[in-house]
Amino acid sequence: MDRLQKVIANSGYTSRRKAEELILQGSVEVNGEIVNTLGFKVSDKDIIRINDNVLNLKPTLEYYLLNKPREVICSVKDDKGRKCVVDLIPSNSRLYPVGRLDYDTTGLIILTNDGELANILMHPKHKIKKTYLAKIDGILNEEDFKKLRKGVMIDNVKLTIDHFKVRKIDKQKNTSLVEVTIHEGRNHIVRNLFMTLGYDVKKLTRVAYAFLSLDNLKSGEYRQLSKSEVASLYNLK
Ligand code: URA
Repeated sequence: MDRLQKVIANSGYTSRRKAEELILQGSVEVNGEIVNTLGFKVSDKDIIRINDNVLNLKPTLEYYLLNKPREVICSVKDDKGRKCVVDLIPSNSRLYPVGRLDYDTTGLIILTNDGELANILMHPKHKIKKTYLAKIDGILNEEDFKKLRKGVMIDNVKLTIDHFKVRKIDKQKNTSLVEVTIHEGRNHIVRNLFMTLGYDVKKLTRVAYAFLSLDNLKSGEYRQLSKSEVASLYNLK
């Protein structure tokens, strides 16, 4: 027996938070009865309906790695009609992105309908490392290096930088390319990190997520994750 919201999320239908909202809205029935409180437990013998559709408890699980282009939103739908990451992968499953990249950030994002894996990867306690390449409008100095080594306070919470390296400096244009690895998932965290140091991020790309990297995927291209990659992601728990 498992909690209803967890079973819905694990089926890949939606996230656990959205599942809770659906339950509280009265959109979920178990064996013909509306369940609108959290904490109700179900087994795989129960018939769950959401907005009159029977939930498939054993959908085929799909896992993709996408090189997200700019001007695509990390969401399953957008009120403003902007392109969403799920539109770039032809699948009949209800895929959703694991975490977020900003509209203008490019690079590696995982999409899946496996709610259990998505929850593992997004949980802060698992401290999954992500590496970004940031093009900034300036050149870091010794003082900045010290701060990066020590950790930087952002919104009163310290951001620990696991690794950083200046990859390129263009003195004429006064820009540099900096690689940073962090294990946090706060919104706009890399842009805020450089803003705190006094630099504007002109371009941002995520180049690695745990042991996965973009390899030769071009912007907008995707590939399926292998069984062993999925198993290794589960092992990050
Ligand atoms: N940090 C940011 O500022 N933006 C992203 O898209 C990802 C990490």
